[in-house]
Amino acid sequence: MKRILSGMQPTNNLHLGNYLGALQNWVKLQDEPEASCLYMVADLHAITLPQEPDALRKATREIAAAYIAGGLDPDKSTIFVQSSVPGHSELMWLLSTFAQMGKLERMTQFKDKAGKNAERAGLGLFAYPVLMAADILIYKATHVPVGDDQKQHLELARDVAATFNTKYAQEHFLLPEPYIMGEATRIMSLKDGTKKMSKSDESDLSRINMTDDADTIARKIKKAQTDPENLPETVAALAGRPGALNLVTIYAALAGCDRANVLAQYAGMGWGAFKPALADLAVAKLSPITARMNELLGDVAEIDRILKAGSEVAGALAERTVQETRDIMGFWKM
Ligand code: TYM
Repeated sequence: MKRILSGMQPTNNLHLGNYLGALQNWVKLQDEPEASCLYMVADLHAITLPQEPDALRKATREIAAAYIAGGLDPDKSTIFVQSSVPGHSELMWLLSTFAQMGKLERMTQFKDKAGKNAERAGLGLFAYPVLMAADILIYKATHVPVGDDQKQHLELARDVAATFNTKYAQEHFLLPEPYIMGEATRIMSLKDGTKKMSKSDESDLSRINMTDDADTIARKIKKAQTDPENLPETVAALAGRPGALNLVTIYAALAGCDRANVLAQYAGMGWGAFKPALADLAVAKLSPITARMNELLGDVAEIDRILKAGSEVAGALAERTVQETRDIMGFWKM
């Protein structure tokens, strides 16, 4: 039996990297016969950077709508909001006593987000990976489908689990496996193929948002960074051509094939031919999702109903692990 857990932060809109690197894979996993899937909206993680209450509430529902519009089926997957299951915060505290400061200091995401002024960064931003460990270990998840940028956080979760298990001499927590699937594990900025596509990039031209309309998608792809060479015959020949590699990767991930297949079709052609084909493919794939998302957002009560049902399922599982963990650690019990 596989237990799958993953999540996204409700900060701004989802972009193509979130969809191709994570959501698209989550949808595939919910159809695996032996898998039980839990997907959450990681609002407790979102507050590690300042958020406005109304914006947070709105973004939380938007992400839930994007999950469903992107193909998650509430009858197959448990969809819930992280903060609605209090066990995440409690387990995080228990686990924080097993997480080493030195290891947290080495997290590249903390260094990126804290920037030059790490002294002023909040404790929550520093402890972010410990909350992620709690998210995963509370469900005894076996697999965690994420993009490449979360790998280091998953190593920390494994480390915390192993330290706990060693201390109490029992296999209480499962060591989760990162599930970094497909060709789109790291989609890069459309403006700079050496930088990750990210919600926080100031330039909107750097990313395709899940809510962009067809014209915007086409315009962003047209302006995307490439080079003067045509498309090569082999994937190896894309080395040293980050912008080109990124567009071929995006095409492959959208089409559900590998990069070699894309090159077999487009080798020798120029960007003037490839970019419109990529734009058409992106629009064909994304616009039904955007339309469905807007439809869902017209019925907030239905989204809330799905989230409430998900929270009840997740809450029962989480409560069990928290109780077991408290017992193992020796807390007084009523
Ligand atoms: P977040 O919200 O930053 O990103 C959500 C998912 O999208 C993936 N991703 C990408 N994949 C490919 N290319 C990109 N350019 C790209 N940008 C983002 C991320 O790898 C991620 O899978 N910490 C997590 C949320 C989280 C979580 C968890 C995940 C909280 N608790 C427990 C797994 C398990 C995050 O910040 O995701």
